[in-house]
Amino acid sequence: MHTVESSKSDSQPILRKPEGEDGSAVWDLVRECKPLDENSMYCNLIQCDHFSDTCVLAELDGDVVGWVSGHVVPSEPDTIFVWQVAVSEKARGLGLGTRMLSKLMARDVCEDVTKLKTTITKDNDASWALFRRFAEKRGGTLSSEAHFKKDDHFDGKHATEHMVTIRFAEPLKRAA
Ligand SMILES: CC(C)(COP(=O)(O)OP(=O)(O)OC[C@H]1O[C@@H](n2cnc3c(N)ncnc32)[C@H](O)[C@@H]1OP(=O)(O)O)[C@@H](O)C(=O)NCCC(=O)NCCS
Repeated sequence: MHTVESSKSDSQPILRKPEGEDGSAVWDLVRECKPLDENSMYCNLIQCDHFSDTCVLAELDGDVVGWVSGHVVPSEPDTIFVWQVAVSEKARGLGLGTRMLSKLMARDVCEDVTKLKTTITKDNDASWALFRRFAEKRGGTLSSEAHFKKDDHFDGKHATEHMVTIRFAEPLKRAA
């Protein structure tokens, strides 16, 4: 039985923690959501199984329509790293990405979290908009700098990923 964390109405996606059985559906969704990097199915399975506390799955009528993967950075217990955000095309522009980020920050695992980090390539307008607006709406301060670099880290095979850091005055979980 899944633990439902929120459901506004029948037509709103239900947000919940993933389970191991969700891994293959998450893998499908991520592959649909260009330009996200594709992972192995096993990677998504491990995220669903071992990192479910810091991942959010959105389900609508039994279909997986949204996904956030993340983890608390092992050396920085005040920092949640958001690895990927994926919203199915049919569910975009309705605030689902924002809702999933809010849900994640409201979890017990984020009790001491005052920083959200993610990486974004320069040309991903939707992703910049999602995180900039999230920072604005939740009273955070956003900064960014080139981090995983095309030549230094990706052997020239992937665009530079900019580390985006959103700092909050206090954990959003406590502010809620
Ligand atoms: C990025 C993504 C997750 C956004 O999901 P979403 O549910 O549509 O986002 P939201 O509806 O919560 O939108 C958040 C804000 O970003 C803005 N936004 C969303 N998509 C945008 C786009 N393509 N261009 C400009 N702004 C955009 C919205 O207008 C909103 O701002 P507002 O509150 O001022 O209206 C979704 O477009 C997606 O899955 N893209 C493909 C995968 C990807 O690039 N993921 C991000 C990298 S980790």
